[in-house]
Amino acid sequence: MRDGGPRIGVVGGTGAVGTVTLELLRERGYGNVRVFASARSAGKRLGEHVVEEATPEALSRGDVDVFLFSVGTSASRELVPHAVRGGAAVVDKSAAFRLEPGIPLVVPEVNGGRALEHDGIVANPNCCTIPLTCVLKPLYEEAGLARVRVATYQSVSGAGAQAMERLRNEPQDDHDLRMDWDFDGEEFDEESKLREETRKIMELPDLPLQATCVRVPVMVGHAEAVWIETEAPLPPARARELLSAAPSVRVEDFPSPGKAAGEDEVLVGRIRSDPTVERGLALFLAGDNLRKGAALNAIQIAELLLDAPARAAA
Ligand SMILES: NC(=O)c1ccc[n+]([C@@H]2O[C@H](COP(=O)([O-])OP(=O)(O)OC[C@H]3O[C@@H](n4cnc5c(N)ncnc54)[C@H](OP(=O)(O)O)[C@@H]3O)[C@@H](O)[C@H]2O)c1
Repeated sequence: MRDGGPRIGVVGGTGAVGTVTLELLRERGYGNVRVFASARSAGKRLGEHVVEEATPEALSRGDVDVFLFSVGTSASRELVPHAVRGGAAVVDKSAAFRLEPGIPLVVPEVNGGRALEHDGIVANPNCCTIPLTCVLKPLYEEAGLARVRVATYQSVSGAGAQAMERLRNEPQDDHDLRMDWDFDGEEFDEESKLREETRKIMELPDLPLQATCVRVPVMVGHAEAVWIETEAPLPPARARELLSAAPSVRVEDFPSPGKAAGEDEVLVGRIRSDPTVERGLALFLAGDNLRKGAALNAIQIAELLLDAPARAAA
């Protein structure tokens, strides 16, 4: 690491997540930041930055301490190994490495210690998994988890900058729910990601979790209706108390994407018992998918890595 703070490379800096990443890095006082994107954006000015092309050569030069990647799964698969080869640590926000055995998948408030077990790559979870695990963790520690059911209401920014532009230009009467993920004949990959990633982060490989994901015509902020069955009884008042004390969680009577947008915390409310099952709890959460759901979570992971002794010395 050089004087002037850690050398940070934001790959995908022109995208929806990359733009917020640059904003947050600036707010947090990081001054030694470079921006990379595809050949399409190379040379473009973004504030004080000039966008560099994310070529294998540029990424493997060894002149960056941590890369924050938000470029999509296939570009990450191709480019991340070059950044690691150059000796940098990479926090990758795509689905490319999340479920790979041996690659930590990290929400700092839930399993932050796992970040330090990396061998070059730490994966950042899906934008619905992050707020869900922040909320499940304290409930699990108190009462165990027998089953989780989730219905999501995901904003358009979760699909990237082009989708945001499309919504801006779409006549209101054409607004509709969408299910714009890969479908395997039964489930969308978004639904299986939510299940598998939650299991990996919480280290509960058999946790029954069923999700239905939809995209709603909202610009920023993902919401989730969650039905939980605990192993031990957990009265709603106690759940509320636990969630009030949980890191990066704020109890709010009626959370909504609008209230969550621009905030760092996951908002959770409507905490009530679900009388249709034994030991059932229902709640509603909302979080900013571009901040805690992506950019902020990745920066928090990078900060864990930067605070730890260098990988080479480990
Ligand atoms: N949006 C969310 O809420 C969210 C949340 C969690 C995780 N993620 C993940 O983060 C990633 C990016 O999402 P996004 O919403 O920011 O997408 P986006 O708005 O479409 O931005 C994509 C970015 O990737 C760059 N890029 C694409 N192909 C590239 C390549 N071959 N080489 C270098 N750069 C390339 C683009 O650069 P150009 O401008 O040059 O095309 C752009 O900067 C995805 O993997 C997504 O799943 C997104």
